[in-house]
Amino acid sequence: MAVALAPERRTRSVTILGATGSVGRSTLDLIGRDPERYRVEALTAQRNVAALAALAREHRARLAVIGDPTCYHALADALAGSGIEVACGSAGLIDAAARPAEWVMAAIVGAAGLGPTLAAVRRGAMVALATKECLVCAGRLLMSEVQRSDALLLPVDSEHNAIFQALHGESAESVERLILTASGGPFRARPRAAMADVTPREAVAHPNWSMGAKISVDSATMMNKGLELIEAHHLFGLAAERIEILVHPESIVHSLVEFQDGSMLAQLGQPDMRIPIAYTLGWPERLCAPTPRLDLARIGQLTFEPPDETRFPALRIARQALAQGGTAPTVLNAANEVAVGAFLAGRIGFLDIAATVETVLAQSICSEAESLDHVRSVDAEARHRTEVLMARMPRRSTG
Ligand SMILES: NC(=O)c1ccc[n+]([C@@H]2O[C@H](COP(=O)([O-])OP(=O)(O)OC[C@H]3O[C@@H](n4cnc5c(N)ncnc54)[C@H](OP(=O)(O)O)[C@@H]3O)[C@@H](O)[C@H]2O)c1
Repeated sequence: MAVALAPERRTRSVTILGATGSVGRSTLDLIGRDPERYRVEALTAQRNVAALAALAREHRARLAVIGDPTCYHALADALAGSGIEVACGSAGLIDAAARPAEWVMAAIVGAAGLGPTLAAVRRGAMVALATKECLVCAGRLLMSEVQRSDALLLPVDSEHNAIFQALHGESAESVERLILTASGGPFRARPRAAMADVTPREAVAHPNWSMGAKISVDSATMMNKGLELIEAHHLFGLAAERIEILVHPESIVHSLVEFQDGSMLAQLGQPDMRIPIAYTLGWPERLCAPTPRLDLARIGQLTFEPPDETRFPALRIARQALAQGGTAPTVLNAANEVAVGAFLAGRIGFLDIAATVETVLAQSICSEAESLDHVRSVDAEARHRTEVLMARMPRRSTG
């Protein structure tokens, strides 16, 4: 009689870039529940020394890297006697990504994640990509590095992960369009005039997801969906006209693919990032994850509506940047990162975010993205222009 053997459990070596963030911690939550299965090579953060040191000790990382060099000594002190190697700065972050871990979670927020993500891609790693800004600011270049190195890019963003799951085993030719769902954020039902005075605290209070501050504000302006449109274009190679946005306030259907026979496949799940993260962490196996289950009978109904690009102009601006092509999305992303930072610091109003991005984009002369150095200089120039523009805006009262 043939005996069915349990599949052999292989240890997977992993590195988490942005370990102290929302995605990083959700990843480590999954890893910590099955520690025999993973070996943690490197963990990184930018300034949060205490959290990085605690995570590095808990998960027995070999290397801990802090991006801000002024935090190096604090991290070295916090990890003294642990045997964990310590490094800092952008070179340290790139070294962390270049170390031979089989699987790398790219979860640094913003274009700052591009260098380390590329380092992991260039050595042909399995890269779980959360940092959508990498694909927005350097999509064509990053995808050509993926092809050249034979790296595997696994989408972590819940929408792209849903599409990735729906496309499994399907031919590219059979796809008619992609539908990215959007929660609509905390101001989905608010008139535009009532958004003028919203505070950072209100803007980061997402109705369904618990996320870092930057992506939460992006969700509130709906720039997040604009960035995701550009991300989907690069990941799945479809023209913008074949990628639609559909507002779905319950955040249960994470996105859909429509095929040429009229079938639509969707992925559903609770809004918990550990679901898409688990899909990439176990790839190509599906992990058993401790995530909450869906009770559709209790939910009762799911609703959908078209996006309102008048109240949420960021969507239209992002579509326009993608249509313009070349370095236009690089400018869009850089201006947005700076404007969101200024909003969170109380320097500009909520509606100023999209208006600022649109002005900077209109003032920029965009061309083909020739190289990474070119992308970096366009990014730096756009950040500078954004600061100059915001400095001319009337000061906001902080009272
Ligand atoms: N959160 C979500 O549910 C979610 C969902 C889909 C996609 N994403 C994407 O995933 C990425 C991370 O989002 P998040 O919400 O996890 O962000 P987050 O909570 O703000 O965490 C960001 C992480 O990046 C580090 N970091 C910040 N600035 C850095 C820099 N300049 N250089 C190197 N490291 C830096 C932070 O370190 P410190 O803690 O030391 O500051 C932290 O570890 C974003 O691109 C976001 O769009 C997030």
